[in-house]
Amino acid sequence: MKELEVRTASSSYPVYIGEGIRKQAAAFLTSLNRPMTKILLVTDAEVDRLYGDDMYQLLSEKWPVKKVIVPSGEEAKSLEMYERIQTEAISFHMDRSSCMIAFGGGVTGDLAGFCAATFMRGIDFIQMPTTLLAHDSAVGGKVAVNHKLGKNLIGAFYQPKAVIYDTELLQTLPEQELRSGMAEVIKHALIADHVFLEQLLGLQTLNGLTSDDLNEMIYKGISIKSAVVHEDEKEEGIRAFLNFGHTLGHAIEAEYGYGQITHGDAVALGMQFALFVSEQAVGCRMDRKRLTEWLRGLGYPGTIRKDIETSVLSGRMMNDKKTRGGMIQFIVLKELGKAGDLMLSRDELENWLNKWRMEETA
Ligand SMILES: NC(=O)c1ccc[n+]([C@@H]2O[C@H](COP(=O)([O-])OP(=O)(O)OC[C@H]3O[C@@H](n4cnc5c(N)ncnc54)[C@H](O)[C@@H]3O)[C@@H](O)[C@H]2O)c1
Ligand SMILES: [Zn+2]
Repeated sequence: MKELEVRTASSSYPVYIGEGIRKQAAAFLTSLNRPMTKILLVTDAEVDRLYGDDMYQLLSEKWPVKKVIVPSGEEAKSLEMYERIQTEAISFHMDRSSCMIAFGGGVTGDLAGFCAATFMRGIDFIQMPTTLLAHDSAVGGKVAVNHKLGKNLIGAFYQPKAVIYDTELLQTLPEQELRSGMAEVIKHALIADHVFLEQLLGLQTLNGLTSDDLNEMIYKGISIKSAVVHEDEKEEGIRAFLNFGHTLGHAIEAEYGYGQITHGDAVALGMQFALFVSEQAVGCRMDRKRLTEWLRGLGYPGTIRKDIETSVLSGRMMNDKKTRGGMIQFIVLKELGKAGDLMLSRDELENWLNKWRMEETA
């Protein structure tokens, strides 16, 4: 097992990573020395089907536990589910010393985290991630639900008290979800660690990944994320670098419709575009062809659906949380392993996107 400590301006907490460690969850939780009068275990339907009963049994030996199951997938990150979980917490008579545990992927973590942040103005919250993507979402304290008009628009910064990451759970993850999570691992390498990137470039397929590979990737990815969050918890500066690939990625997710493309596939498209802008506008030196071919070889898409117009995407991008006075903060690479930003107007962004899409279809 590996352990690291995330230190932010507001708090610090342990991250445990290892195979089978969910079985030690009670011991980890006890060692936090928190009152934990009751536990609300929030999970999604698929994770519940696979592991829900076991987890419930494990925890209920020590604490009063109520399990709440939300539908599997992005749809669950809604105000409706938010209210349902709060209703369950109130009717279970939870108090300010109770705790919510998110047992699932990024959707469950974001949703349960936002519930914990606001239930009685904030109660303890534990992340038990079950997807590769959640190496990103479970650390750093961004919690949110979606609004009809945009993703993650209603949320908070709220750090968990601990992250317990049992990597054995990833064995049942479908390949497309593994690839989705891998996009964030690649993002972490691209923005902060060119040696790690070179290592990843050695991978030809995601099929043969061993649990050692996964443990290592998760450890490195979380280390990079926690170093960024340590310096800038509330995204006033360098934390924005974590949005590499996400400006276009979020616009693609919204246009395809949630559930029609995974977060990671959309981000991989966004990263290919951001690499293009980095090379063309910032002069970042790289073998872009090698990078894009590698990504496509791993199964990521290389082009955006043709029927989606560039102007529609640029309009979406301008609604992003990263817009300031009509200019968008677009994250680029100055060199491989080093991020920076570029302020772009909507026209400039649309121009770059048109050029990139033309190159991709040429
Ligand atoms: N808070 C943050 O900093 C942050 C960062 C990145 C992404 N996110 C958010 O994370 C969400 C995406 O997370 P995700 O990709 O984990 O999605 P997810 O939680 O929907 O999980 C993906 C799918 O895998 C299934 N699943 C989960 N664990 C499984 C397992 N062990 N075995 C088999 N199936 C399993 C789920 O039921 C679901 O169908 C998005 O909403 C995104 O906005 C948040
Ligand atoms: Zn992401």
